[in-house]
Amino acid sequence: GAPVEVDISKLEEGQMVRVEWRGKPVWVVRRSDAVLKELGGHDGQLRDPSSAEPQQPGYAQNEFRSVKPEIFLAVGICTHLGCSPTYLPNTFSEQVNGISSGFFCPCHGSKFDMAGRVFAGVPAPLNLVVPPHTFLDDNTILVG
Ligand code: FES
Repeated sequence: GAPVEVDISKLEEGQMVRVEWRGKPVWVVRRSDAVLKELGGHDGQLRDPSSAEPQQPGYAQNEFRSVKPEIFLAVGICTHLGCSPTYLPNTFSEQVNGISSGFFCPCHGSKFDMAGRVFAGVPAPLNLVVPPHTFLDDNTILVG
């Protein structure tokens, strides 16, 4: 599959844009400062908080799992059995107490934070996959 260019110039805080890359959905989300702050506060609830899993690209192995803190990319496929999790920008606290935003998989209830890190105690075994990507400029990302 060919690489896919994503224009994020109009992407506002909290918004997600979805593109298709190699037949898979790829999400691009602009995270707010509040969401970034929240990411530091629940490592103890996560299965792999530092993304030590070997399949993650190097630039996903930091506290935000991203090249730029505010821009998060993930393959939108649950690491359990491949359903597409739902982005819950304001109502995730109904799934995980005290956490405002995240991703919830309706198939078997897996929960992921705003860095795609899986919570412990759900069926999904791994964090969401960060696809290979580079920034061509401030507002253009090349996925693939
Ligand atoms: Fe997502 Fe099973 S496919 S929890």
